[in-house]
Amino acid sequence: MLPEIKKTIHFDTGKTNIFLISEVSDLPEDIFDAPETEYVAQRLAEKNQNTVILNKLGKFAFICRIASKEDTDQNKLLEKCRKAGESLLGIYKDHKIGSVCVVDCCHKPTETLAFAEGMLLGNYQFLKYRTDRSEKESTLTEIEIVSPGLDEEAIAELHTLCKAVYTCRSLINEPLSSLNAEKLAEEFESMAHEAGIKIEVLNKQKIEALKMGGLLAVNLGSVDPPTFSIMEYKPEGAVNAKPIVLVGKGVVYDTGGMSLKPTASMDTMKCDMSGAAAVASALYAIALAKLPVFVVALIPATDNRTDGNAYVPGDIISMMDGTTVEVLNTDAEGRLILADALTYAKKYDPMLVIDIATLTGAAEAALGKYGMAGMQNNAELYFPQLVKSGFEVHERIAEFPFWDDYEELLKSEIADLKNIGGRFAGAITAGKFLQHFTDYPWIHLDIAGPAFLDKRDGYRTMGGTGVGVRLFFDFVKKIGENKVQV
Ligand code: BES
Ligand code: ZN
Ligand code: ZN
Repeated sequence: MLPEIKKTIHFDTGKTNIFLISEVSDLPEDIFDAPETEYVAQRLAEKNQNTVILNKLGKFAFICRIASKEDTDQNKLLEKCRKAGESLLGIYKDHKIGSVCVVDCCHKPTETLAFAEGMLLGNYQFLKYRTDRSEKESTLTEIEIVSPGLDEEAIAELHTLCKAVYTCRSLINEPLSSLNAEKLAEEFESMAHEAGIKIEVLNKQKIEALKMGGLLAVNLGSVDPPTFSIMEYKPEGAVNAKPIVLVGKGVVYDTGGMSLKPTASMDTMKCDMSGAAAVASALYAIALAKLPVFVVALIPATDNRTDGNAYVPGDIISMMDGTTVEVLNTDAEGRLILADALTYAKKYDPMLVIDIATLTGAAEAALGKYGMAGMQNNAELYFPQLVKSGFEVHERIAEFPFWDDYEELLKSEIADLKNIGGRFAGAITAGKFLQHFTDYPWIHLDIAGPAFLDKRDGYRTMGGTGVGVRLFFDFVKKIGENKVQV
């Protein structure tokens, strides 16, 4: 559960407090007497020791050294603070602590907020399907912050953003049995209504009328119809006249289709709509925070399955823009549904299009769980800024080469394109396939690695991580602040 979070002026010594310090001398003298301070100093002098726990008459006082002189890289420091915030959650749970107060003793509001961010993000759990959830549930429901330099708006914004990350994670964690393409679109509708976003969900008939051949081909093996969700957030006084369009891969389950995946590779494939969840959730946060930026989200969605009428390797399909594609592997389905969405994006004459997708095992093989692959065409102006946002929020982008030569690998003898590029450079050829359908500044993000975790990793938790939400929010926020040229 997402704890409430609020700013207060004074902390209460009768409650559980977490004192954030940079040096021992930051500790408030009226709370800690000399022997306690001496004890804290000794403990913190030990190697790799940054946290000290004091039990004061049954109440805990946590002392966390969040920064020291060695912390010269600001992005690394903020990530350290997020991790520190998460690291104590287990103790609160063990002792059934419901409310804590974070006290910024070292006058570091940004770092204090990052610490709180780690607490909020790390407190996420997906317990919907556990009958013993009351025992498992985290007890933390309230966080107070004492930090004179921190304004209430920044705290409220953090809460909104974390709420969007929770929403994103839960969409990803929901299995296919309760989240097919139509249900996913319904979830987007309720998010849109809450946040004041305009939404239209195209049904199968409309998708057919638009001749979205990629989305329809992937959907052939499904008993459920596809959807195409269009979410538009256009605030009055937006800094941009042309929108930023976010496109998310919404494969609600990927069996591979007739090019069936091996059993083990299929286990986590409910996560194949992580891009879709990320763009919808990012827009949700952007709208709730009322950022002054015109942003659109486009989400093609279907499951990818085998059935009597499923598309097969060798099929030639005709895409929305008329391009013909020789399908040589039905498991390379993400690019087919995204291509139609990228074609649809042209009608906005967009300032920038960013797509995000769990697109290739090759991206995961190259980067593991720690970063996403980024490629761009014609977006030299924006790409470095997105990369910078990535470092700041710790959703990092590694730029892959995107040379024209790779286009060779997608040439087909009998159609305009093949949907696979062979054994090598799989993340890049997937990107090149998508590029064919773009004619605007465009960035492609492959999140196959970081979208979903088999085991807990700190505040990213387990299962869907919500990667992309904080990245897009930060990037769009900076555009709204005119820190990026529009
Ligand atoms: N959804 C998968 C990619 C994926 C792999 C996501 C691992 C998350 C974790 C995608 O649709 C896929 O199957 N891609 C194929 C493409 C290949 C057939 C060219 C792949 O990467 O193997
Ligand atoms: Zn696939
Ligand atoms: Zn897929």
